[in-house]
Amino acid sequence: MKSYSLIAPGKINLYLEIIGDRADGFHELVMILQTIELADVIDLQSNDTQDITLHCNHPQVPVDATNLAYRAAQLMCKTFPAAYANYGGVDIKITKNLPVAAGLAGGSVDAAAVLVGMDLMWNLGLTQPELQDLAGKLGSDIPFCISGGTAIATGRGEKLDLITNLDNLWVVLAKYQSISVSTPWAYQTYRQNYRNSYVSAREDVISRGDRIRSGELMNAIIKQEGHKIGELLYNDLEKVVLPEYPKVSQLRQLFADLGVLGTMMSGSGPTVFALCSNEEQATDVMSKVQHTINDSDLELWVTKLASSGIQVA
Ligand code: C5P
Repeated sequence: MKSYSLIAPGKINLYLEIIGDRADGFHELVMILQTIELADVIDLQSNDTQDITLHCNHPQVPVDATNLAYRAAQLMCKTFPAAYANYGGVDIKITKNLPVAAGLAGGSVDAAAVLVGMDLMWNLGLTQPELQDLAGKLGSDIPFCISGGTAIATGRGEKLDLITNLDNLWVVLAKYQSISVSTPWAYQTYRQNYRNSYVSAREDVISRGDRIRSGELMNAIIKQEGHKIGELLYNDLEKVVLPEYPKVSQLRQLFADLGVLGTMMSGSGPTVFALCSNEEQATDVMSKVQHTINDSDLELWVTKLASSGIQVA
């Protein structure tokens, strides 16, 4: 086929622990990543030229090589020159439903969808591990975006252990439109403030991963115990982002006061999510937050946890 339409769902972090520095300048992490149903839509079409073009309905999204989706197409052209010569370039259209620079992997999922879609369009027959290897060259959380579901992510975030599905819970997402957080800034600030807590010995790094694998949160996820999962949500980056953005901190406090299962900032933020038992609770919490804060700058979504990553529409 010459064109494909793909669903590219976002993610939240149920757990994000920064373990230490890596030789490549990144951080060694232990995370639990979770796909949500809220998704961008990516339309791809072979264009019979040598060009990659990118269009997006969101004015804040760059449409040049600074966009990860564009870089994903460049990577495919470079890695598979015979297919590129045969099929030509690609037109990419992104319909943005996920907020931008929000900690929900919005840019990463678009890139993941381009890899999956071009593999299909070019009949390459790549396996999921092969796609994830390519994805890891573009960004730390893009391998996860391909498979999706619930996973423990270690290393830079690219080493994945898939866990049981956790798609029976709902979340409310909240983000102030005018607040965006730079991921490099969040990690650099964390390094400046908390470097003395970093571990570097290989066995210490491995044991931090093992602690999560056999820990209470994993146990609660396997047993699908929403209350326990809510209590055990964790994100080290809250320590640097929340003091810088008091409005995000207040939002998190409001969710907690409304008695949700748990609340946490996702990734490097500033999106805050509230874990809820069912759709009714999530809708009720969303309208209470809207009513209490009453600010047109605040955007809210209700969405369900989901069990798969990139899908053909
Ligand atoms: O890999 P990705 O492009 O998502 O990373 C964005 C930024 O986040 C990196 O440039 C780096 O500053 C920081 N980061 C990190 N350690 C990781 C992942 C991301 O320091 N494991």
